[in-house]
Amino acid sequence: MSYAEEYTRSISQPDVFWQEKAEDVPWFTEPQTALSQDDNGIFRWFSDGEMNTSYMALDHHCNNGRADQTALIFDSPVTGVKTTYTYSELRKNVARFADVLKRNGVKKGDRVVIYMPMIPQAVIAMLAVARLGAIHSVVFGGFAPHELAVRIEDAQPKVLVTASCGVEVSKIIEYKPLVEAAINMSAHKPNCTIVFQRAQAEAVLKDGDLDWEKAMINAEEAECTPVLGTDPLYILYTSGTTGKPKGVVRDNGGHAVALKYSMSVIYNMKPGDVFWAASDVGWVVGHSYIVYGPLLHGCTTVVYEGKPVKTPDAGAFWRMVEEYSIKALFAAPTAFRAIRKEDPEAIKMQSYDLSSLDTIFMAGERLDPPTYLWTVEKTGKPVVDHWWQTETGWSICANPTGIENMPVKPGSSTLPVPGFDVQVLDHWGKPLPAGEQGAIAIKLPMPPGCLPTVWGDVERFRHSYLDAYPGYYTSGDGGYKDDDGYVFIMGRTDDVINVAGHRLSTGEMEEVVAAHPLVAECTVIGIHDALKGQAPVGLVLLKDGADVDEDDLQAELAAMVRKEIGPIACFHRAVVVPRLPKTRSGKILRKLLRQIAENHEVAIPSTIDDPGSVTEISTIMHQQGLVRQKTE
Ligand code: COA
Ligand code: AMP
Repeated sequence: MSYAEEYTRSISQPDVFWQEKAEDVPWFTEPQTALSQDDNGIFRWFSDGEMNTSYMALDHHCNNGRADQTALIFDSPVTGVKTTYTYSELRKNVARFADVLKRNGVKKGDRVVIYMPMIPQAVIAMLAVARLGAIHSVVFGGFAPHELAVRIEDAQPKVLVTASCGVEVSKIIEYKPLVEAAINMSAHKPNCTIVFQRAQAEAVLKDGDLDWEKAMINAEEAECTPVLGTDPLYILYTSGTTGKPKGVVRDNGGHAVALKYSMSVIYNMKPGDVFWAASDVGWVVGHSYIVYGPLLHGCTTVVYEGKPVKTPDAGAFWRMVEEYSIKALFAAPTAFRAIRKEDPEAIKMQSYDLSSLDTIFMAGERLDPPTYLWTVEKTGKPVVDHWWQTETGWSICANPTGIENMPVKPGSSTLPVPGFDVQVLDHWGKPLPAGEQGAIAIKLPMPPGCLPTVWGDVERFRHSYLDAYPGYYTSGDGGYKDDDGYVFIMGRTDDVINVAGHRLSTGEMEEVVAAHPLVAECTVIGIHDALKGQAPVGLVLLKDGADVDEDDLQAELAAMVRKEIGPIACFHRAVVVPRLPKTRSGKILRKLLRQIAENHEVAIPSTIDDPGSVTEISTIMHQQGLVRQKTE
């Protein structure tokens, strides 16, 4: 089967195509209906199929000859710990932790928030929630209490699961005080907090807290609760343009079918192969390809607690490949930029045997051609860029290495994946010809696995993704297709930025900066950063008469953003400006500021209030080194 045949069939007869793919996963009751519409008119997959994702990922393999195969490898250079779990051991731990959750009141449909570092217990907790037919919401450990509180308030979890600490290279981050602060801030209070104690920092437990290990002593093995294909498996909050993160909902059935399909078609993996996504369970890449994808496919997955560099050096990734015979490595381009910065000649790499490694996959941000070329040259391995989002849960564009290796064009995330009818639209929603840049949208229905709604807010789902171009899902990314149909993603068309592969909202940062008593107005934009892709910078207008040292102000604003959003916001720069370009109705021209930062030609809009402000801000941004150089 060629890529072209597979793709055409997926678009011309999506229901027949996906019904066939659904046969590859073990349902309790096979779905009779592939595609339908729910009460809100939203397309849904496998609404009458009965299943359990945790069963598909664990029990099914134990019952079919994989009980003694390694399911999960844990490697933590920051603590010196290495362990493995067979499928049977992982299943047992998951079933017992599910019983702990059950005894604490968690049942089908309830939410459980998980705020954990990269340890196996995070994966066990996720699969245990899924086993009960409940809904997990994992919050990345680099988010501050306020962000955690917003998610607790929205998801209303019955239980919160955490660990006593995370380890960031050599820093110990105590989680329990952060969790307590978040619960204090939230109007919703979980019934209890279950804490996994780590030797690096033991947490002091309070009334209502439960020690993971102690709770597990008397736990029995909970059965898998059957759910419908359309029942939610998880909520994962992601940044949008407003301050409030969006709770992207993932269903059980479509998700399992899509991820199982992707493991062979995109990643060319066979059951038993070792797959490593060097991400974090707090992000979508971690959900899909540390936890669910590899396990649904009967592969061995890797949980790595460390960085690509400094743990202990730029050979960290290559050591892992050799030690565990990793076949596919998936990470964000920023990780390879970090390795390249520390070890430009790849000296460290030469000490390791990379013969097990077939392909390197990258996603999470644009793969810049220099990073692509360096990685190909130094490793001698094929490098596959693929484009996806929290909302889709798997890749929209990729090189379908399991069907056909298409020629690579640096800068392109290659071709639409079967199931995704990708179109480039103009302002009015008309498809644009090859070579012309516009908004990238996906014609409905989207394939299985993509979000069916925003948690508790179908109107926000419609407004954010469906209303702009009727009949399409709007991705928020801009770009073009070339004459061969290759897709080039050029960046967000909204105020979302991508810092070290982490998706962040500038709107959220603006809310924090604007709360400073001396700030009258501000805007936050993303500027080019050689290591992290983008970095946020605040352009700040002071209140009349405000007298402040600019360095002090910058430090205060950086501390505020770190406290409110978290260290991963990487907000370190604020520049005081005398005015900001605005429309006559008073809206700050953020798009124009982004264009200046990217060193694009800027057309002064007719709606502008004060054309001189554009020249002025452009001069300041050049003087302050905020404008990307043409050579970068
Ligand atoms: N818990 C607590 N703090 C965290 C954290 C976590 N889970 N993750 C990151 N942080 C902190 C870091 O310690 C750092 O703190 P600092 O300001 O005190 O130094 C800050 O957040 C910024 O982190 P980061 O942007 O990751 O910078 P870094 O210098 O620690 O590492 C890279 C840089 C490039 C090595 C790292 O970002 C990386 O490996 N990126 C890969 C991206 C990725 O996995 N993306 C997922 C999508 S595929
Ligand atoms: P997230 O939801 O955190 O995975 O971030 C999704 C966003 O990251 C996308 O909307 C893109 O802006 C960006 N992104 C992800 N993968 C790629 C890629 N391969 N090329 C370009 N941008 C990407």
